[in-house]
Amino acid sequence: MTSPRTTRFPYAKGSDGGRRLGYGADYNPEQWPREVWDEDIRLMRAAGVNVVSLAIFSWARLQPTADTWDFGWLDEVMDLLHAGGIGVDLATATASPPPWLTTAHPEILPVTATGETLWPGARQHWRPTSPVFREHALRLVRELATRYAGHPALVAWHVNNELGCHNVYDYSDDAARAFRTWLRRRYTTLDALNHAWGTAFWSQRYSDFEQILPPRLAASHPNPTQQLDFKRFSSDALKDHLLAERAVLRELTPDVPVTTNFMVMGGTKGMDYADWAAEVDFVANDHYVIPGPQDRDELSFSANLTSGIAGHRPWFLMEHSTSAVNWQPVNLAKKTGELARDSLLHVAHGADAVCFFQWRQSAAGAEKYHSAMVPHAGEDSELFRGVVQLGRTLEALAPLAGTAREAARVAILFDWNSWWTSEHDSHPTARLDYHREALDWYSALLRLGVRADIVPVGGTDLSAYDVVIAPVLHVVPQPLAKELTRYVECGGHLVTTYFSAIVDENDHIHLGGYPGALRDLLGIRIEEFGPLLDGVAVDLDNGTSGSLWTDRIAVAGPDVEVLARYRTGAYAARPAVTRRGSGRGSAAYVSTRLGVDGLAALLPELLAPAGVTSELPQGARGLVELAVRRDADSRYLFLVNRSEQAVPLPGLSGDVLVGPDGPDGAFDGLVLPPREVAVLRVPAT
Ligand code: GAL
Repeated sequence: MTSPRTTRFPYAKGSDGGRRLGYGADYNPEQWPREVWDEDIRLMRAAGVNVVSLAIFSWARLQPTADTWDFGWLDEVMDLLHAGGIGVDLATATASPPPWLTTAHPEILPVTATGETLWPGARQHWRPTSPVFREHALRLVRELATRYAGHPALVAWHVNNELGCHNVYDYSDDAARAFRTWLRRRYTTLDALNHAWGTAFWSQRYSDFEQILPPRLAASHPNPTQQLDFKRFSSDALKDHLLAERAVLRELTPDVPVTTNFMVMGGTKGMDYADWAAEVDFVANDHYVIPGPQDRDELSFSANLTSGIAGHRPWFLMEHSTSAVNWQPVNLAKKTGELARDSLLHVAHGADAVCFFQWRQSAAGAEKYHSAMVPHAGEDSELFRGVVQLGRTLEALAPLAGTAREAARVAILFDWNSWWTSEHDSHPTARLDYHREALDWYSALLRLGVRADIVPVGGTDLSAYDVVIAPVLHVVPQPLAKELTRYVECGGHLVTTYFSAIVDENDHIHLGGYPGALRDLLGIRIEEFGPLLDGVAVDLDNGTSGSLWTDRIAVAGPDVEVLARYRTGAYAARPAVTRRGSGRGSAAYVSTRLGVDGLAALLPELLAPAGVTSELPQGARGLVELAVRRDADSRYLFLVNRSEQAVPLPGLSGDVLVGPDGPDGAFDGLVLPPREVAVLRVPAT
């Protein structure tokens, strides 16, 4: 990963000329009659909105037929926003091709693995690799960029929208052609491809690149490396679309920063954003809460990972929701306080803009039950009052604009290749959930009140961390094994888990016993995996219990400590958790899924050699999350009450930027009410 050019962040300016955090929403004025637009500007100003994303789904309106354009309405909206002091993150409008285009060119429609066409009628019904789609999309981008190049409201370009949200995997003939081109570039020769794909197996040897297809519905398990490469290719194909639009924008408006909204959230795994981040001028992310016991842990995890892929530079929260969404089985409204708390948790992890989908709740269409900044009830509503209040809070946080997120001492490694590969079919278990394992480690750290950074593999300087946790780091090519070994030898403390370091970049097993690439570093050898059936648990002698997975571990030498043994199950009395000291560091291995409770119980022992402990008062741990931003003079402590109870914070003091004591108060040992956030400024020492 190379670093994104996040210095080109489109900050709004306040009346004093200073930077402000961004505040706003997707704005879809084409859904409303003209008179509503004036009302919109009035309410945006009342709320403190300073940026909107415009024209995301406007293609059919902007280009009503192949040869006609209608920019008049957009000119007027741009002018109105500018007059209102609101900047525009202008979309390239290519996310949803209009009916005239799909009627004339049905060959741009995506095709599923089972050969079904995804028809128009929703959105994002286009093949990332369609030359016809590309041509029409770039024509639109060129028109827009030419027209608005000098417009004073334009602060950034928003390429397409959530690339890959609905069309990441396309198995069409266009995709097949592009996949072959991608494979030629990766492997050069068929021999290299046949080796990488292990085609000696099941008579799969290719004698011509033209024989290769995407992994369409097959009679049995498709070739695993073909599946992995298709995932890599599909992420690259969307990135390629981003680059193609970006090229037009940079040609015509070289000074306007370009972004696209990522979806670092929950189970969205098709796009390798660590790889995309270097291609945008500032990282932007969308996040929606999926209710559940770890929902706000997941919010924090995603915001934290977004910061990680942004190289810990400020990033832009392009979308989240003021309250309910419309696309879950049951769509819960947010409780009082959650609108602000969720927003500020993103800011705590480095967001310098807080935006929502969308400005005004739609009266028609598939998203009419999705919340917005202006709800169906109108401005006389608790929700809009909360929106106005949040605008004031963000104004009070203006000093944070441009500050960095302060690094933690613990890192959790996150790796798209391991995510994709560890969850393939025909594995020891089909139940493995990569993201959940990583999230569980993070939840356990939150419970202990220990800060951690979620960082991508590659491009992260591990030596900055005292402890590196690598859950299910399944794909470990030799250079990564060397990097981890060096990290430990130089004094780092590595923790890894079951099913890590098993395969190389081609998904070939590291032979000689598991976990192949890290076997020597960990000082253990595993001959056989012991996955567990659903509902089966094994007890460990440290009082925790494991599920999903066990390993039959043989300890290789006297320098390996056994931190816990299995007490029950097929491997009773054998090691379950081990640690080997090496150089000034150590390498620990956790062979089963301990869940949040078990990990929280084990972690103090794993953190001890590095001397990592909580920075929070004892009674606040697990209830309050601490995140820190900083500049040369100050540290900004975000104290986020994740709980439904008031939490005392004895011993913490600083100037209050946001909090129960109000601006300019001093915060010393106060009580943080349920779901509230305090932001304290303390001198950087
Ligand atoms: C996003 C999308 C928005 C809106 C939102 C609803 O995926 O970019 O346009 O659909 O979800 O939650």
